[in-house]
Amino acid sequence: MISGRSNMPSNDEGTSSNDEKDPQLKKFLFKCDQTNQQLEILIPELLQSGYSFYTWPCAPILAWFLWERRHSLEDKSILEMGAGTGLPGILAAKCRARVILSDHCILPKSLTHLRNCCLANNLVPGSDIKVIGLSWGLLLSSLYKLPPIDLIISADCFYDPRVFEDILVTVSFLLEKNPSAKFIFTYQERSSDWCFEVLLKKWDLKAARINIDDIGEYSGVNLIEIMGKHTIHLIEIYR
Ligand SMILES: C[S@@+](CC[C@H](N)C(=O)[O-])C[C@H]1O[C@@H](n2cnc3c(N)ncnc32)[C@H](O)[C@@H]1O
Repeated sequence: MISGRSNMPSNDEGTSSNDEKDPQLKKFLFKCDQTNQQLEILIPELLQSGYSFYTWPCAPILAWFLWERRHSLEDKSILEMGAGTGLPGILAAKCRARVILSDHCILPKSLTHLRNCCLANNLVPGSDIKVIGLSWGLLLSSLYKLPPIDLIISADCFYDPRVFEDILVTVSFLLEKNPSAKFIFTYQERSSDWCFEVLLKKWDLKAARINIDDIGEYSGVNLIEIMGKHTIHLIEIYR
């Protein structure tokens, strides 16, 4: 597998590299032409490090979807899985949701970087937002200790069919504990052969595609432009 910004993420935390000392600060501006509201989110990125240190194209798409529903996020309890740099979850926290960002518990540098992404947006981990280690498919104590959840989100976590079932096992467990919750995620199409149907049946889950054509309409933003050459879907999973 190729690491960093390739089409397919690799599972590498990276060792030391120059960009660790000198992260690039990426700005994401969310706005609404109708109300003149806007929110700027700053994400420090380490482009030469592992794939959780860079914001993948799926993340701004999910973040725009949440931004357009920002009024419904207030006081909601939201868990982001495989958060990487955490753009959608950080946006939700800025919109007054109670957010838990999570990433693989065996990647301590990724979790530290995720905390730094929160701090870059004046969110103090542990008080304004939580950052935890949560590994897909493992029923670890971090999973059992979660508070009630209204919404689970993730961006670009279905990047390799070998992880599909692990993610769905965790989601199935959480939706059983939180029956009115939903799992909403962005999925980048990398192969038309990949599908979830059999696994959804196995784990007693249902899925529906959310139309993204209208996202950005109120904000005067063209999501197709943001997606560039990628094909990205927004999907909802529920029980
Ligand atoms: C392609 S990156 C997406 C990151 C971020 N959501 C984004 O869109 O920019 C996949 C993320 O999943 C995390 N991840 C990979 N395997 C995992 C596992 N088994 N459990 C939890 N997180 C995992 C990685 O550390 C990484 O942050």
